[in-house]
Amino acid sequence: MKRILTIFAATAVTVSAMAQVKISVHETAKDQPIIPAEIYGQFSEHLGRCIYEGIWVGPDSSIPNINGYRTDVLEALKTLKVPVLRWPGGCFADEYHWMDGIGPRENRPKLVNNNWGSTLEDNSFGTHEFLNLCELLGTQPYISGNVGSGTVEELAKWVEYMTAEEGTMAELRKKNGRQEPWKIKYLGVGNESWGCGGDMTADYYSDVYKRYALYARNYSDNRLFKIACGASDYDYNWTKVMMKNAKDKMNGLSLHYYTVPGWEGSKGSATQFTTEDYYNTITKTMEVEEVLKNHFAIMDAYDPEKKVALLLDEWGTWFDAEPGTIPGHLYQQNTMRDAMVAAMCLNVFNGMTDRLKMANIAQVVNVLQAMILTKGEKMLLTPTYHVFRMYNVHQNAQFVPTDYSTGEIVSQSGRICKDLTVSSSKDNSGAVHVSIANPSLDKSKSLEISFDALNAKSVSAEILKAAAISDYNDFDQAPKVSPAAFKDFRTSGKTIKLTIPAASVIVLEVK
Ligand code: AHR
Repeated sequence: MKRILTIFAATAVTVSAMAQVKISVHETAKDQPIIPAEIYGQFSEHLGRCIYEGIWVGPDSSIPNINGYRTDVLEALKTLKVPVLRWPGGCFADEYHWMDGIGPRENRPKLVNNNWGSTLEDNSFGTHEFLNLCELLGTQPYISGNVGSGTVEELAKWVEYMTAEEGTMAELRKKNGRQEPWKIKYLGVGNESWGCGGDMTADYYSDVYKRYALYARNYSDNRLFKIACGASDYDYNWTKVMMKNAKDKMNGLSLHYYTVPGWEGSKGSATQFTTEDYYNTITKTMEVEEVLKNHFAIMDAYDPEKKVALLLDEWGTWFDAEPGTIPGHLYQQNTMRDAMVAAMCLNVFNGMTDRLKMANIAQVVNVLQAMILTKGEKMLLTPTYHVFRMYNVHQNAQFVPTDYSTGEIVSQSGRICKDLTVSSSKDNSGAVHVSIANPSLDKSKSLEISFDALNAKSVSAEILKAAAISDYNDFDQAPKVSPAAFKDFRTSGKTIKLTIPAASVIVLEVK
């Protein structure tokens, strides 16, 4: 999608006008895929204040908590319906030794977190704390195993500790207070093994992967879904080598794609940006669609039956850390621009689930494109949180094909993307949800949404928009970006008409 447009070199941004868009929602289409809830997955790493303070404050904290988990964050995450949570990293995972995080907390070793700001890690949040959190949230755990600096035995024993009913590891787990094994489906065998996870070549890693994966056993009726470390962004060779060498030994292959819109030396500010920066961010984000398709094409060549899933297990915006914070803690604010990134991406992901089976935005609290930010005892919900909450209606719903043709955004960087994204699904009760993201900063669009067989008893909608695209929610202030009911639509026959304001996200519910 990258185009060099010299004629636009002097212009900051060119956005083609598209005042009217016709959208056809085929809610009666048969045999459509179910959108895996895991597309709405989250990621929690021992990084900055994600785990400590963000999720875990310990049972003795003055911050209200349930068994050490802060109550406000727990409640917000329950509302979000987190389908899957990846842990303990990220780069941290390949230096994490799980045995440091079990047993009495006061006896656990304290280590330097070498990846993230050299912060002291006291291991007070370990395997039990994570898996119990998942149970409280009704979330599937996704364990990211240490391949970079851990042994095959260590990973094998971790799986046994978590999932075996009997044996030495199960006895140790029971001694530490947990009788029943946990159910673990998702097991990542290494993270970014081409970089922080061991600096390996694809050929070398594919052998290493097979060795670690072999000894990660299924105990009783637990069935692991083994995920090999995949490529970064445009590294198609990694995908090719992994598929060629190891496709029969994996259930999934990962991919990481971050939106890092800045230039030389700076990733750009999360809150202070120009119109050009905004469109550069949006178009870079949307390039993920082409990148995914390119990886899919390679996978198709080796696996036409699509037995191996692709898991985009890290994605989201990555800006400069907030001034005054520790750079290695990756704490950034979150504006309406981030909400737009999330909404545009999720619309695209919903339509790619024949191969894409999971996506984990980075990260859930206080790190990168977070859902939630905390400051001591204070907590706020970000604009991105609101998109994930509004869109959670698509989780496990049946995909509904939706046709529309719209204009383009051409950014200063020469990248191009659609100036509207839409996706639809039908849930178990028959309700149809249509999510629409209009990234244009200056053009509202008049939408005519026609359904195959609309027989609506009720139509309702929610909108997320802000006075300015750089608006964000801050501590000690009334929220500037939060969803509101949207009533400005007209239903006639099989058609709903509405105008979507510039820079807004709408989710329509038709029952
Ligand atoms: O999400 C932050 C870091 O980004 C992760 O630890 C790593 O996997 C990626 O490079």
